[in-house]
Amino acid sequence: MRLHSFLLLFLLTAWAWGLDGEEGVEEEEEEEEAKAPEEASPGPPSDELLEEDNILVLTQHNFARALREHRYLLVEFYAPWCKHCKALAPEYAKAASLLKNESSELKLAKVDGPAEMKLVVEFGVTGYPVFKFFQDGNRSQPVEFTGPQEAESIVRWLKRRLGPAATQLETEAEARQLIDSQDLVVIGFFKDLQDEDMAVFLAIAKDAVDMTFGFTDRPELFQKYGVSQDTVVLFKKFDEGRADYPVDEELGLTQADLSHFLVVHSMHLVMEFNRQTSSKIFGARILNHLVLFINQTLTPHKELLTGFQEAAPPFRGEVLFVVVDVAGENDHVLQYFGMNATEAPTLRFINIDTTKKYLPTTEEITAASVTTFCQDVLSGKVKPQLRSQAIPPDWDQKPVKVLVGKNFEQVAFDESKNVFVKFYAPWCTHCKEMAQTWEDLAEKYKDHEDIIIAELDSTANELEAFTVRGFPTLKYFPAGPGRKVIEYKSARDLETFSKFLDNGGVLPEPEKSEVPIPEAGANNSKEHKDEL
Ligand SMILES: *[C@@H]1O[C@H](CO)[C@@H](O)[C@H](O)[C@H]1NC(C)=O
Ligand SMILES: *[C@@H]1O[C@H](CO)[C@@H](O)[C@H](O)[C@H]1NC(C)=O
Ligand SMILES: *[C@@H]1O[C@H](CO)[C@@H](O)[C@H](O)[C@H]1NC(C)=O
Ligand SMILES: *[C@@H]1O[C@H](CO)[C@@H](O)[C@H](O)[C@H]1NC(C)=O
Ligand SMILES: *[C@@H]1O[C@H](CO)[C@@H](O)[C@H](O)[C@H]1NC(C)=O
Repeated sequence: MRLHSFLLLFLLTAWAWGLDGEEGVEEEEEEEEAKAPEEASPGPPSDELLEEDNILVLTQHNFARALREHRYLLVEFYAPWCKHCKALAPEYAKAASLLKNESSELKLAKVDGPAEMKLVVEFGVTGYPVFKFFQDGNRSQPVEFTGPQEAESIVRWLKRRLGPAATQLETEAEARQLIDSQDLVVIGFFKDLQDEDMAVFLAIAKDAVDMTFGFTDRPELFQKYGVSQDTVVLFKKFDEGRADYPVDEELGLTQADLSHFLVVHSMHLVMEFNRQTSSKIFGARILNHLVLFINQTLTPHKELLTGFQEAAPPFRGEVLFVVVDVAGENDHVLQYFGMNATEAPTLRFINIDTTKKYLPTTEEITAASVTTFCQDVLSGKVKPQLRSQAIPPDWDQKPVKVLVGKNFEQVAFDESKNVFVKFYAPWCTHCKEMAQTWEDLAEKYKDHEDIIIAELDSTANELEAFTVRGFPTLKYFPAGPGRKVIEYKSARDLETFSKFLDNGGVLPEPEKSEVPIPEAGANNSKEHKDEL
């Protein structure tokens, strides 16, 4: 469930509905598990190893044997109903055939997760497809493959597990040859190859299969490439051509920082948004996106790309520049931004963390106007565009008052009222579960002049004051000045709600004999929340 919710997080906060993700281990499985009696067929279970398309078909009965017989084993956990798994099947078969001649020590395998729940549980599989790599027959702590799910990248990743992840460079000619060989080449210049930083570098090289890695300790190569201290240099055949990451002498290299640097600098300054690029765009974890909407079939629109591209370099790493073709299959993106294709060419700025969106201040799209727009948003000069439903005519007629973006400020921050608001999403199950309790609470307090029980659909209404990230979120806005907000994180029952309201927005200390009410932020309140 958690993974499924996490996916929703991505779908809603990121504007990439086309994002390819794992599919959650959903309820279907539990049903499968319940009706697994076919296992009871006669005869002892065999540990025979069967293959389909050069891929071992593993079960709980032959898994141990496969581990014994193959020193390196990549296992895909899939589900028959998972669409991503189906789409991936030909790529996986291709990888298996590419690897056929490599080494008998290396083998690809697959496990039908729903039919093999024991393995799913043992290896902590939480979604499909998932790849686990086993080495030396070691069944504990396999390494997960998370790279692009294409034959070539699977093969490259495996080869890096087996062989050296990076090439040692001794001469200028070797360095030149490596740099010329690929679009993205990373070279680690390290004075001491025994240093810990070198191990960090190699660990990254093992995983980052979309780049090629080399390293050197040769002073003449330091000199040739103008490097004086330990540095990781990314050579690329586009945009700036090169990006340097000097190693901090005190702190050393950390895997997280270096991989972030490589991800940020390996992206094109302007990324065209489509199915293939969306995971890269969102995987970069650059929180600000500047999106240019154009109709790529129109020359005057395409000409705007020049200025857009020119404005991008100073913002690398801070604002990701993205182009969306409204004539392509991007209706979901337009919908997410609440736009119509006829509005192109136009810009939108979005922070994918807060989901706040910003409208351009001028219609002109030039390098100068794009730069100004970015700067103005980053410095807080431009106010975000906030979505709101219209105020329903009967919003205050029922016990539970209906808030939308447009009346939220006025009602919630009314200094003469204590306002308790439920922020919900229509699809959220925990919200549905507490809906009746909320009605009952409103009914109970409907004659209290100074208490308002309200609700707001957070999927259709955005607020300037804060971003709602989980559903349901309950907040209490006490009467009085100062715009105070108290987040309610305790039990969601009428009794506890009432105590909270009667006590002016705090819960009374539990008496010694009482079961304590979970504290704010405790694990248990989180479990009952659908993460946005
Ligand atoms: C694998 O080896 C066989 C025979 O040795 C050869 O015919 C085949 O082309 C090779 N396949 C690949 C992908 O290299
Ligand atoms: C298996 O791998 C884990 C993690 O790398 C390690 O801690 C453990 O000692 C290994 N077990 C065996 C039997 O080699
Ligand atoms: C893009 O422009 C073409 C004309 O070149 C037009 O036919 C098409 O409808 C436009 N697409 C959208 C989504 O506006
Ligand atoms: C987009 O705008 C055009 C022209 O203003 C209008 O005819 C069309 O119905 C709009 N489409 C949508 C989906 O709102
Ligand atoms: C949640 O529970 C885990 C262990 O069950 C504990 O390590 C962690 O600190 C808890 N977190 C909070 C916020 O209480």
